Amino acid sequence: DRLPYCDRSNSMGINLANDDQLRALADRINAAYRDDWYAEPLVPGASHDGERIAVTNPADLREVVGYWRAADGATVDRALENAVAAQPKWNALPAASRAAILEHAADLLEQRMPEFIAMCTRDAGKTIADGVGEVREAVDFLRYYGNQVRTMFVPEPLPGPTGETNVLELHGRGVFVCISPWNFPLAIYIGQVAAALATGNAVIAKPAEQTNLVGYVATKLLHEAGVPEDVLQFVPGDGAIVGAALTRDPRVAGVAFTGSNDTAAAINRALAARDGAIGVLIAETGGQNALIADSSALPEQLVKDAMASAFTSAGQRCSAARVLFVQDDIADKVIEMLAGAMAELRLGDPGLLSTDVGPVIDKDALDNLEQHAVRMEHEARHIATVASTAETAHGTFFAPRAYELKSLDQLHKEIFGPVLHVIRWKANELDAVIDAINSTGFGLTLGIHSRIDETVEKITSAIKVGNCYVNRNQIGAIVGVQPFGGQNLSGTGPKAGGPHYLTRFVTEKTVTINT
Ligand code: SER
Repeated sequence: DRLPYCDRSNSMGINLANDDQLRALADRINAAYRDDWYAEPLVPGASHDGERIAVTNPADLREVVGYWRAADGATVDRALENAVAAQPKWNALPAASRAAILEHAADLLEQRMPEFIAMCTRDAGKTIADGVGEVREAVDFLRYYGNQVRTMFVPEPLPGPTGETNVLELHGRGVFVCISPWNFPLAIYIGQVAAALATGNAVIAKPAEQTNLVGYVATKLLHEAGVPEDVLQFVPGDGAIVGAALTRDPRVAGVAFTGSNDTAAAINRALAARDGAIGVLIAETGGQNALIADSSALPEQLVKDAMASAFTSAGQRCSAARVLFVQDDIADKVIEMLAGAMAELRLGDPGLLSTDVGPVIDKDALDNLEQHAVRMEHEARHIATVASTAETAHGTFFAPRAYELKSLDQLHKEIFGPVLHVIRWKANELDAVIDAINSTGFGLTLGIHSRIDETVEKITSAIKVGNCYVNRNQIGAIVGVQPFGGQNLSGTGPKAGGPHYLTRFVTEKTVTINT
């Protein structure tokens, strides 16, 4: 039953130019669409008779694709009790056994790629290409963290200068709460959960309210792969109610969170204010990501990469480029080419292979973007707006736009959607550009387009970001290849998909024996 692109141990994409692969994928995605998906708490021993909340397709709000139910206070409490009781046994398993379960989950996920792509499209408005990327990243996280604990958890013998034996062991911290975002409903959900499980923690997972359906099916898949139901529990709900109840509870040892700065700060305060041990927080938050291009940049390559960085996934990636700083010598040409390229972009139904940009996640996101566009029409120079199609009439679509600004000060906050802002700079202003970017306080991704080695070196050494990309786009970090995550306002680190991420999920124990 494996599709041709699954026939390897690491995750693979599909060759869209290969008709057989494309048809096999498209047929299976179409067969997987449903209107009765559902998500409810997966908490052994708890009963769920709460209100059913309809889930609509962001590409067409008239279409109900399923429903979900939130966890109530008793369910949250039961989940915590279950997790505390279950964790020691899970932690006592050899790390290789936990790894084998995660690797089995990776295989199942790869086999079911079309079903998950279908869900990502209907639940989150993702294009098919984005859906392929989601599944691949999730598979990679499962295998990467599984593989890592196989060696990381081998107890390390230490020197015994006094005749004693000393061994350093690693253990799960206890109960981890994983709070994941709607923009990567599968990849980040699985990434957080896999890291916490691999290291011997019991997990309570609470995805963003907008994308519970994907999280529910992913949780069931992990159970099927062998994760006990009390070791991984799914507790959907409103962040302000369910998220807050979990993070203020002293039974929680740590929280892995991806989302807004405000929420990360609230979780941090909750973890510090509890009676008992202060919990650990791993947070990945926002960005005000820039792309710096000097006059040596190749305009065609620059525009192609700026378009991909700004508009892929409807700009709803924390890595996305928001501001293109382009040196004035090439600015007119680049702006003209950008407008030309945007005229070719197709906004529409994310379930169609011909679509480049799908809807934004919901009405709130759309309202924020529309308000920003109104301000930009007054305060900036309009460069281009992508045309709408008939398919966009009933969904939360926001046509990608580009504006020219005078200064970065005109952006007061992160604009989370398909809007690219362009700012010109002069040859003697590179230091000021770097200072302006650093002074936003965010530090997630930076793109550089330059063929001058000294300029690249100068920027990469002075810029305070987590991920720098030179002469390519600045999105789509690959697990184990480009460890991902920022600094300052953009997150705490360590980086997801990197060699140090798991260290934050464990506690260390030194055992000294006087023989
Ligand atoms: N990890 C994603 C990327 O690199 C962003 O959230 O695009």
